[in-house]
Amino acid sequence: MSAVTPPPDAFPLDRDWTFRLLDRPEDFDPGWLDPGAVEADSEAWSPVEVPTNWQLTPAGAGDPPIYTNVQYPWPADPPQVPDENPTGVYRVGFDMGEAMLALDDQHLVTFEGVDSAFDLWCNGQFVGASTDSRLDATFDLTSTLRAGDNLLVVRVTRWSASSYLEDQDHWWLSGIHRPVTLWHRPAVHLADLHIETPFDRTAVNAHLRVRARVGGDCAGHRVRIRCATPTSTDLVDQTVGIEGDLASLNHQVGPVRRWFAEDPYLHSITVDVQDSEGRVVDGRTIRAGFRDVRVENGALLINGTPTEIRGVNRHDHDPDSGKVVDDDSLRRDLVLMKQHNINAVRTAHYPNRRRFLELCDQLGMYVFDEANNESHGVWDVLPNDPDWTSQILARCERMVARDRNHPSVIAWSLGNECGWGPGLEEAAASVGDADPSRPIHYHPADHRPEVGIIAPMYPSVDELERLAGLDDDRPIIACEYAHSMGNSTGNLAEYWDLIRATRRLAGGFIWDWVDQGLRRRGTPEDPEREWWAYGGDFGDEPNDAAFCCNGLVSPDREPHPALAEVKHHYSPIGISGSRPDEVVIENRHQFLDLGVYRFDWHLETDGYVVQSGTVDPGVVRAGHRTVIDVPVDRTGLDRGQRHWLTVEARRRNRTTWAEAEHSVVFHQLEVQGTTGGRRTSETRRPEADIDVEFSDETGGLSSLVVHGNQLLTAPTEPWLTRPLTENDDARFGPERAAERWAAAGYDRLDLIVRSSADVPGGRESNVLLRCEDSGVTFRVRTTVARTDGYVVVTTSFAPTAGCPPHLPHLPRLGHRLLLTRSLTELDYLGRGPGETYSDRCLGQRFGLWTGRFDAQRFPYVVPQESGNHHAVRWASLRTEGGLGVVVFGDGPLDVNAGVHDERAINAARHDHELVEDDAVHLHVDHRHSGVGNGSCGPGVLERHRVPAIATKWRFAIGPLSGGADPGVVAGNGIPGSPATLTLL
Ligand code: GAL
Ligand code: MG
Repeated sequence: MSAVTPPPDAFPLDRDWTFRLLDRPEDFDPGWLDPGAVEADSEAWSPVEVPTNWQLTPAGAGDPPIYTNVQYPWPADPPQVPDENPTGVYRVGFDMGEAMLALDDQHLVTFEGVDSAFDLWCNGQFVGASTDSRLDATFDLTSTLRAGDNLLVVRVTRWSASSYLEDQDHWWLSGIHRPVTLWHRPAVHLADLHIETPFDRTAVNAHLRVRARVGGDCAGHRVRIRCATPTSTDLVDQTVGIEGDLASLNHQVGPVRRWFAEDPYLHSITVDVQDSEGRVVDGRTIRAGFRDVRVENGALLINGTPTEIRGVNRHDHDPDSGKVVDDDSLRRDLVLMKQHNINAVRTAHYPNRRRFLELCDQLGMYVFDEANNESHGVWDVLPNDPDWTSQILARCERMVARDRNHPSVIAWSLGNECGWGPGLEEAAASVGDADPSRPIHYHPADHRPEVGIIAPMYPSVDELERLAGLDDDRPIIACEYAHSMGNSTGNLAEYWDLIRATRRLAGGFIWDWVDQGLRRRGTPEDPEREWWAYGGDFGDEPNDAAFCCNGLVSPDREPHPALAEVKHHYSPIGISGSRPDEVVIENRHQFLDLGVYRFDWHLETDGYVVQSGTVDPGVVRAGHRTVIDVPVDRTGLDRGQRHWLTVEARRRNRTTWAEAEHSVVFHQLEVQGTTGGRRTSETRRPEADIDVEFSDETGGLSSLVVHGNQLLTAPTEPWLTRPLTENDDARFGPERAAERWAAAGYDRLDLIVRSSADVPGGRESNVLLRCEDSGVTFRVRTTVARTDGYVVVTTSFAPTAGCPPHLPHLPRLGHRLLLTRSLTELDYLGRGPGETYSDRCLGQRFGLWTGRFDAQRFPYVVPQESGNHHAVRWASLRTEGGLGVVVFGDGPLDVNAGVHDERAINAARHDHELVEDDAVHLHVDHRHSGVGNGSCGPGVLERHRVPAIATKWRFAIGPLSGGADPGVVAGNGIPGSPATLTLL
């Protein structure tokens, strides 16, 4: 393996190949090596594109994709694999000109990735074999090529002994899945290149160290090495001799512009091999960055400055082509990451295409480059078995040799989840020798001396704090945290507050970037409907179902609501403060001052922008902060209205990954008015009238008539459950909320009306929510009063005296209203427009939002709780004609309006299976629990859980008709109560 890539005039072999699928490798017929063989038997062969995963093509349809996480798809017994071993045979012909062949060249073919193992023949002769499905394999074809037609035949087996080292948690898909290239080089050629750019202690003055290996008989040759900036200033231009096969340069360059992810400044380095006459016989120009990595005093220093790893794990994945990711897909991922303030990628769990690293160099992304070693299903076995050491080592060493010139790569990862053993110790030593300039990462290495970074997986906030307190001086970077499966990624705020406040905590990589759903078309109802398939959907047994869908984006890269939260906490600029004249701006960059940003602000009054401007924080150097005074004019701001300020950082100019004006982060705070009457409890009587009746069946409302129109389709009920999120429903890990809720009987509470009687001004009802077998019983007393044209619902909730102790928390505490489907229009004052939960709400803006009741739910791969709005001051549901209701509380509410019944959501396994209900399900919650990360790791933090304890709360329903403004009707809060409104 070499860092020298095929030259620009290489010949891509990405044309159509012919292909056939065999049941097992033994069925390979050597007759197929003969060029005429296919024509004679053409029916059995199909055209297939390369690169491709055959399981996703018609020709490979007999062999399904398989998704497993830890388990191997067959009984594990290394190195044995099943006899039934689907085998793909590929053939491609190409023409070779006589002139080309006559050159004294070497002719090579490079396969960038073939899963899992393959044999290669050229013109009937066996050339070689290779394993490691995620690194290049280059073969010398010189002696087998001939002028005119040539034929390559490749036999690829789905399973090989190597599969034991490729047990990553993703789809098992096979074939030639990365590009294939034919290329040639002169007899004397550049064989390998190693570039290093260490800095002195000041982290300003750099050295350029180049070691070029020259292949062939290079006596009398020399190597010219130049280094230039993009504007072509030659920093270095030296010609050196070759000793043995090695030409080296160690040049003190002095101060240079350095490469950072936030400022990916690339130099070009040209290395030419010259013959004794000074003619260039071979050479390459590569784009390199001056970048230095050190681990010191608990910090990960890049170019001398401490670095925050705002990372994600990324698998190669395309919903149509599987593991085949083209240049556009790679770029699109990186651009989307950059736009969301992500600055680091762990290439979970194998080396990505070379192209990926080139793009990371250019766009600016730190990379933990991971070797293709994972043997999760036979934990500890392979690293302790000397027979496997050379394989484990080769996978690390070849990765380092391929990738070490990329400034983006800042750490080497030996792989993932093999357990530990001497094989990995050797690998660490060997990587350290080959490249001492980067720290080594591996999980699980715990605190072993081989690794330069402590890399826990799914630590809780408390666990991170504990680790940081241990006696060790290495940075702590969670190689996986915030498991983003479905409606997830809670409590990033708590993680990042701790990370930013604690020495040695340097960030982490979220698990993971993209939902690995595969696109299918056609459902029983609709032949055109597309849907996302996961484990088991191809009849694959065994499988791990939807555990491959843990992404921040959907398979087609639609951002999940959680991505906005990531963007907020990963921001390179912090904006905080609770007063307009004391807004704190924190520059979290390593290098850039804030000159590339513009700070805009605007003031909204009751949802409408009334003032705006731009504020200049002055020069704020990297790592520094300043306090600014945002010139909000408070004169004339009415105390009776609600005002809030948004301060927002935008990039001034267009960049390679964003348009000009791109918003990086915003902060909002409430502003008090100075004139007019204070907010009082006086409300204007709504113009529309409202009438209610009560249900003997639930103790709630059985009728809600606004302006003569019945809006309820069923009696209202107190409601404690939610459709299970995948986090709630986790089968392992500490949280397992659904299990505990089921043990307590929350999923099967009977509603028993104890009393329901008229009281002055309304009705009081007492109901029990009881689970017969668990004994859990809650008492809910609801008083409904008609006050000033509103309906005010006061609820007291408490576990009964006989209830077992230590009740699990509640998913939610609220009421469910089933309303007619004519109420299609949803407006709310709260955080939006995406869904929010108490532990995931800072990425959405507080404001006045308008939407439709049926557009609130996010189409997660597996249907689950979705569409909640947190910190809602009021929410209205109306017909297009304006008839409806507005709900509001004493304080903020959690509100959810959807068209699916909870049981239907729980029963559906794919989005397309969901059937809409004939009512709008409006949940008005006093509180709704956070989402946490419990599908793999810590669940919802205590403070974001709704405790099952005595609680009293109120909300009001106001009638709306015609052009009534719900904000005005919700107006001054619940009639008859002191106005206590904290907005945000
Ligand atoms: C980790 C593993 C990942 C993935 C994740 C769960 O243990 O490294 O590959 O399986 O758990 O989604
Ligand atoms: Mg694993």
